[in-house]
Amino acid sequence: MCGIVGYVGARPVQGLLLAALERLEYRGYDSAGIATLFADRLDSVRAVGNLQALRSAVARAANGNGAGAGSNGSATAVAVAEPSTGIGHTRWATHGRVCERNAHPHMDEAGRIHIVVNGIVENYLTLKRELTARGCAFASETDAEVIAHVIARHYDGDLPAAVQAAYGELVGHFAFVAMATGEPGVLVGARRECPLVVGRGDGEQFLASAVPAFLEHTRQVQFIENGELVVLRPDGAEFRSAATGEVVEREIVEVDWDAETAEKGGYETFMLKEIHEQPQAIAETIADRTARGVGVDLGDLGAIDDAFLRDVRRIVVVACGTSYHAGLIGRYAIERWARVPVEMDIASEYRYRDPVVGPYDLVVGISQSGETADTLAAMRLARESGATVLAITNVMGSQVTRDADGVLFTRAGLEIGVAATKTFVAQVAAMYLLALRLAELRGTLPAARLRELIAELKRVPGSVAALLERGDDDVQAIARRHYKAEFFLYLGRHIGLPVALEGALKLKEISYIATDAYAAGEMKHGPIALLDDDTPVVCVATDSPVLEKLISNIQEVRVRGAHVIAVATAGNDELQEHADEIVAVPATDWMLAPLLAVIPLQLLAYRVARLRGLDVDQPRNLAKTVTVE
Ligand code: F6R
Repeated sequence: MCGIVGYVGARPVQGLLLAALERLEYRGYDSAGIATLFADRLDSVRAVGNLQALRSAVARAANGNGAGAGSNGSATAVAVAEPSTGIGHTRWATHGRVCERNAHPHMDEAGRIHIVVNGIVENYLTLKRELTARGCAFASETDAEVIAHVIARHYDGDLPAAVQAAYGELVGHFAFVAMATGEPGVLVGARRECPLVVGRGDGEQFLASAVPAFLEHTRQVQFIENGELVVLRPDGAEFRSAATGEVVEREIVEVDWDAETAEKGGYETFMLKEIHEQPQAIAETIADRTARGVGVDLGDLGAIDDAFLRDVRRIVVVACGTSYHAGLIGRYAIERWARVPVEMDIASEYRYRDPVVGPYDLVVGISQSGETADTLAAMRLARESGATVLAITNVMGSQVTRDADGVLFTRAGLEIGVAATKTFVAQVAAMYLLALRLAELRGTLPAARLRELIAELKRVPGSVAALLERGDDDVQAIARRHYKAEFFLYLGRHIGLPVALEGALKLKEISYIATDAYAAGEMKHGPIALLDDDTPVVCVATDSPVLEKLISNIQEVRVRGAHVIAVATAGNDELQEHADEIVAVPATDWMLAPLLAVIPLQLLAYRVARLRGLDVDQPRNLAKTVTVE
């Protein structure tokens, strides 16, 4: 996810940037850096680790260099005659390992253009190949560095013009800030999908991924729209269309957030903020991997090559909790599309059941934190038995990445709420990518169907965004009706079953209400005895070949007086007569529906927990990373 900042004005800039980055550390903290420009003096410092590591590196550099203007690392606002210009970055690695040379700011070969970037440049490999062919040398493994080189190629002393030209060549979701050594006192920001805001000061201007970065200096904010550039000079900010260069007006808004609300992006909790970040989590996870349109590119999977994936005889997925549910969805997709048998196991069970596993197996360990003790142990056991192990994780450098033969990273950004939301949808997206890649390699899907599924997967982030933008008044009304219930039952079939399991887990972990989740067809073999007048029964009833079967199960529930809450595909009116309450989600390919159906269930859990007055970000007894078995 990453946090970026920029400043142009009269204050010593290094301390100011460091303080701003500290306020964005929640966006990522595996490495950080700043580049500052004062007259013709450029200082660039990067460090692996959190902001404290960068502070120490800045102090060391200042001692080594003699204290240059603005390079003392202090936040004191002492006015100096010349403008200082600076950019800063706190990284949440997506492309490229966590190491100093992959930390931002990046620059072109000649060191004229310096940039900090948040997001993904989907066509970076194509651009990198072109630039390399022209003799350009790259210093990092990141996708971001390509932006500095593309801007440099267009640069002839006019940074805004060069950024505009470069913007048109970039594909992806990103926000970046550029600075040119030849133009002190000028910063250019650009935005496509990822956030970037301007803070307006008196004789000084700020740019950042989020408002908390500059809240202590100004509350006057201008939001940059998608497809826009902003040119900052100490005396003002000029907004331009990235396509035409035409100047556009942006109103100045006064924000009245306190520091804590600002950190949550104006949301009341991190969990709600993260629920709303799900379109981006999915988009970034699939981004460049589906950019070809005709197939899926999983990038570098280490020792796991295409030949192995093509011939793999069995896949075993091991994970815990929410990650296990993402694996379950993956099982349906892999078996249906790629025709490889998939076994699922809860990691804590797998490791002690003396499993039959060997060289022909691919074992997939899913863990957002990458540190879950049971998942790690299950993966190690499989590897020792000769299996090839793939890790799916959200955290670069985490232990699973060291214990696996290959890694597929999700790109949800840092998740602070203990209950997993955006990391879950990113894991599901990653499992879909794996399933589609396997299908492509094994030729188990007609090319047209493969293309259609990839195109539909790329549309999902937009549908999730539309669903969230619509608001959740319907879910809130359901929550108000049932928040005092002592028990909820969740039902689903086929690909809806893991969604039901996940919905039930979300509700129990943050609202402390007992829940059960069942395959709907299994209900009459026991759980039906739990139903009472008004028991809330949440049914994942999106369109699918088994919807009619599910509707029969819903009728069995209803005749027992229970209260049916259905998550259904928009436009399917049949459910109206079978459910007491319906929450509609946008239509998509039925196999991809879990990415949409889970959203109302996350929101239902959230609203119920809030009505019960609970701390959703830190539910009792739970930890974000479970490093003990
Ligand atoms: C629930 C939740 C947990 C985790 C589980 C595994 O919201 O977050 O169930 O999914 O503890 O964690 P990771 O994915 O880090 O291995």
